[in-house]
Amino acid sequence: MEEKPNEVHYGLEGVYFTDSKISKVDGINGRLYYRGYAIEDIAKYSSFEETCYLLLYGRLPKKEELDSFSKAMAAERDLPDFIMDMISKLSGREKQMHILSAALSALSAFDPETEDQSPGANMRKSIRLISKLSSIVAAIGSAALGNGYTKPSKDLSHAENFLYMLAGKKPDAGKARMLDKMLMLHAEHSSNASTFACLVSASTLSDIYLSVVAGISALKGPLHGGADENALAMLHEIGNPGNTEEYIEQALAGKKKIMGFGHRVYKTYDPRARIIKESLMEIMNSSDEDVKNVTSIALRAEKLMIDKLGKTHGIWPNVDFFSGPVYEYLGIPSGLFTPLFAASRIPGWCAHIMEYWQNNKLLRPLENYTGEIGLKFVKIEDR
Ligand code: ACO
Repeated sequence: MEEKPNEVHYGLEGVYFTDSKISKVDGINGRLYYRGYAIEDIAKYSSFEETCYLLLYGRLPKKEELDSFSKAMAAERDLPDFIMDMISKLSGREKQMHILSAALSALSAFDPETEDQSPGANMRKSIRLISKLSSIVAAIGSAALGNGYTKPSKDLSHAENFLYMLAGKKPDAGKARMLDKMLMLHAEHSSNASTFACLVSASTLSDIYLSVVAGISALKGPLHGGADENALAMLHEIGNPGNTEEYIEQALAGKKKIMGFGHRVYKTYDPRARIIKESLMEIMNSSDEDVKNVTSIALRAEKLMIDKLGKTHGIWPNVDFFSGPVYEYLGIPSGLFTPLFAASRIPGWCAHIMEYWQNNKLLRPLENYTGEIGLKFVKIEDR
């Protein structure tokens, strides 16, 4: 009997694989909701701690609940000495995502609850992961900047503590709030490549730590979380606002992709990019000439790309385009952008893993085999 041809969905484009109540990405209208709340309201009224609570527990906390959750997060900020040793020995190699992945794997071997798959233990590990991942990323950044290790503070907010550990001094309140917003905007985004990678691992009933490590691996690539670093590198390469048109024209003529543009789901302006652009407008008036220059190039490139590809091809700025100049303004080195993305996305990853385990099904798609079959095997000595 002749087999029916298999229908292949390259890149799993357009394929739904599960139900979820965590976030809704409306790619046609450019809207994003975390647990039903619009991202614009989250960015305006919430904090990273509250967003983590919302994503993990599925509802907004009451004041006392948020206070005790924030304390529980702060209590998990410390890192064991062997992680610090590892970070300092590996630093200087410009391999921040590799160091992050190794540090997290090492931490999983240290946690007595790693193999405890009860919902209570998974929630505790999620809180631990959110806090410790941020401390690890700050420590990696601080080592790369030559700032030495600053122990975390339990008295600061999550965003303040990150900047404090990175620079070794208490941050300016405006900058801490800007980072807080960036963390919230990156906290969750449905079944993106890294979240899906977490779920592939989790679906085998592996543990939450190594499922997150799978997500970190997927996040690293320039088609996903690595795009912000590359987008900023492009802005620096353009160098001067007056060069923007020529650079973009040439890149497009050479079929190069412009990092920070285009999205599998959004066929319009990414709502997160719109919010990050507001921060960009704030820092435009900064006294730092480099920040001003890079910001003007970004705004010129944005306009040009929208004119050329936005309306005609549905290729619009995504979350990664304006992030680089904002992070640079916050004193975050570009090699740390993707690790920081991981430290922001971790509540989303954990929320998805825990949700998926409530109704687990092994993720195992099919490949359409296009090779030969029935070949005669010739022994090695006769080939
Ligand atoms: N610049 C120029 N052309 C682009 C861009 C871009 N940034 N993005 C897509 N295109 C073009 C492609 O060349 C392709 O053209 P073709 O049909 O003539 O070959 C068409 O648009 C479709 O692009 P695909 O890459 O096939 O679309 P897909 O949905 O698979 O990819 C992706 C989406 C990977 C994000 C893509 O837009 C891209 O590579 N963008 C640049 C990297 C980036 O910014 N990634 C971050 C995404 S957001 C995030 O992950 C946090």
